Amino acid sequence: MRMYDIIKKKRDGGELSEEEIGFFVRGVTDGSIPDYQITALLMAIYYRGMNVRETCDLTFAVRDSGDRLDFSSIHGIRADKHSTGGVGDKTSLVVAPIVSSLGVKVAKMSGRGLGHTGGTVDKLEAIEGFRTTLSEREFIDQVNKIGMAIVGQSKEFAPADKKLYALRDVTATVDSMPLIASSIMGKKLAADDDCIVLDVKTGSGSFMKSVERSRELARLMVEIGKSAGKKMVALITDMDRPLGNAIGNATEVAEAVETLKGRGPSDLTEVCITLAAYMLSLAGKGSVEECKALAKKAIEDGSALEKLKECVRAQGGDVSVIEDPSKFKRAKFSREVKSPAAGYIGRVDTEAYGLASLALGAGRNTAEDSIDYSAGILLKKKTGDKVEREETIAVLFANDEKLFTGAEEKLLLATTIQTSPPAPEPLIYDVIE
Ligand code: URA
Repeated sequence: MRMYDIIKKKRDGGELSEEEIGFFVRGVTDGSIPDYQITALLMAIYYRGMNVRETCDLTFAVRDSGDRLDFSSIHGIRADKHSTGGVGDKTSLVVAPIVSSLGVKVAKMSGRGLGHTGGTVDKLEAIEGFRTTLSEREFIDQVNKIGMAIVGQSKEFAPADKKLYALRDVTATVDSMPLIASSIMGKKLAADDDCIVLDVKTGSGSFMKSVERSRELARLMVEIGKSAGKKMVALITDMDRPLGNAIGNATEVAEAVETLKGRGPSDLTEVCITLAAYMLSLAGKGSVEECKALAKKAIEDGSALEKLKECVRAQGGDVSVIEDPSKFKRAKFSREVKSPAAGYIGRVDTEAYGLASLALGAGRNTAEDSIDYSAGILLKKKTGDKVEREETIAVLFANDEKLFTGAEEKLLLATTIQTSPPAPEPLIYDVIE
């Protein structure tokens, strides 16, 4: 088999066979295919696309390019959720304990922040002592013992994706449905869950800016998961505004705790209850409506919060900050951002909000950067809220006062103030089953 022929076939609109896709991904992984041929094929895929069969084959080849987890020694049904990435998205910290407190196992591998989006592993590391690296044995034992564990990716999952993503990033080929779907699902399927709920974000804070594109991606990923034998659902949720009011790491953990106490922002609470309900329902706990009621009860009776504490304790974290989030180390400085006009908050550029938080130190510009866990943003006004001139719309937190100017500028540029209230947008656009 020759890479030249595979590139030519796709360039001319042909359908690649499983063998050709396998040859390509093996060659990417072992370094035998040069970057110029890899990127030529990526560009051909970008223009010509792939059908569902090719996309499934690409996904499975990516999944099989590295380590895979074996959860067969976990007793009971395993369910997971996966978000395509957003701003203020702390749902995993709320959903995993809810689902686990209701008897479904959550063996969760999470990622770190990427660009303007946050990552669950970074948020958990805001809790002093919390170990996001466990051996596979420790991880499985903890899930069997308390029902949940959340770790970062320590093994080499889907190394082919690492290489492909790096090349896509510099050759303008990220934005391709089969390449995105196979990248996300190739990594997700390396873990061994029975049920997966995808939270496909849509809007200015996500990499899918339109609902139609998000729907298309969701359908494709559901199809891929099903052909791998998983029970799948995808929700399309709004990212035209940050989720909840907190953006940052410690501040997002605090907001997740408030949500588990039943005092969270309504948008975050609704998305969490819905995600949890679909996970529970896929795991056989009842209809989605019944599972919503179960999820709400797990918040009301405190069992979900108790589960988060158990998990934090088991992974060596300081539980006192979960009991009382005001014990999180605070940033040295804060600054209130005032509204330049009276009116209503209209459309916001959520990605720019994420970048403002990053500029305060809450995220990374490069993989090597360290994170300031106490930095971030607390929003006082969101889309649809009425605001007076000079009223505070957000509070910024940082340990270096010089960072405020840039972040404030970004936030104000990203916020429109209009004279009439904007038409309300749905929080959950669709469910793909
Ligand atoms: N996230 C991924 O993991 N891969 C993509 O291609 C896009 C988003």
